[in-house]
Amino acid sequence: MFRRAFVELIIVLLVRWPRLMESTIIKKSIVFIYGKLIADDLDQVIKKKEDYDKPIINALRYIKSNFDQPQKVLDLGTGTGFGVFKTKEIIESKEIIGVDLSKNMLEIARKKAKAREGDNIFFEQQDASDLSYESNSFDLLMSNNCPCYLKEVARVLKPSGLFLFTLSYSGEKVMKHKPRLEKFLRRHGFQINKMDQGGNGVYIIAELS
Ligand SMILES: C[S@@+](CC[C@H](N)C(=O)[O-])C[C@H]1O[C@@H](n2cnc3c(N)ncnc32)[C@H](O)[C@@H]1O
Repeated sequence: MFRRAFVELIIVLLVRWPRLMESTIIKKSIVFIYGKLIADDLDQVIKKKEDYDKPIINALRYIKSNFDQPQKVLDLGTGTGFGVFKTKEIIESKEIIGVDLSKNMLEIARKKAKAREGDNIFFEQQDASDLSYESNSFDLLMSNNCPCYLKEVARVLKPSGLFLFTLSYSGEKVMKHKPRLEKFLRRHGFQINKMDQGGNGVYIIAELS
């Protein structure tokens, strides 16, 4: 209940006041809440919530069938590596990087990656709103259950690259915001290719035009 309300709040904030999400105080609060209060439990929550991964699975399968395989993938706000490991299962990519601000989250993600050495999976501590990567670097950027910073997404994506946004909750509610989300994405040069519900959640695949 609390989690769902939190996700809905993030959507409203993102869509209505994207600049607010970039304020230091909001970012610090997010990192505190996730790093200190949620990191140790996140994998349990994911395991318990049966269809947590439905939106990302549906979206990645759609990408696999309808686009060239994205070779360089970046998962923003990766947490314990959810988007990175799901991508590895479905897409044949050369390199997948997960970034997060929270050290605690990354520690867990790296432990999981250690067992899969040679997979070309990397985790780095970075702020999704101020990435250190060069412009035009990635074929696919994703943000799962995490605030997204479209200006930065558009900068590091290659021309015609894909942006995938998923939420594991509140799919029905978010679908109602479609026109607003479309406008928000268009402002940053993106066109929605596909938006659909998956389980209780939702996914958006947008192309940089
Ligand atoms: C709900 S968790 C989602 C984790 C994972 N993507 C998933 O779906 O399971 C949100 C994650 O976003 C991270 N995060 C929030 N704001 C961030 C930012 N500005 N830069 C990098 N990571 C951020 C948090 O630290 C947290 O790990």
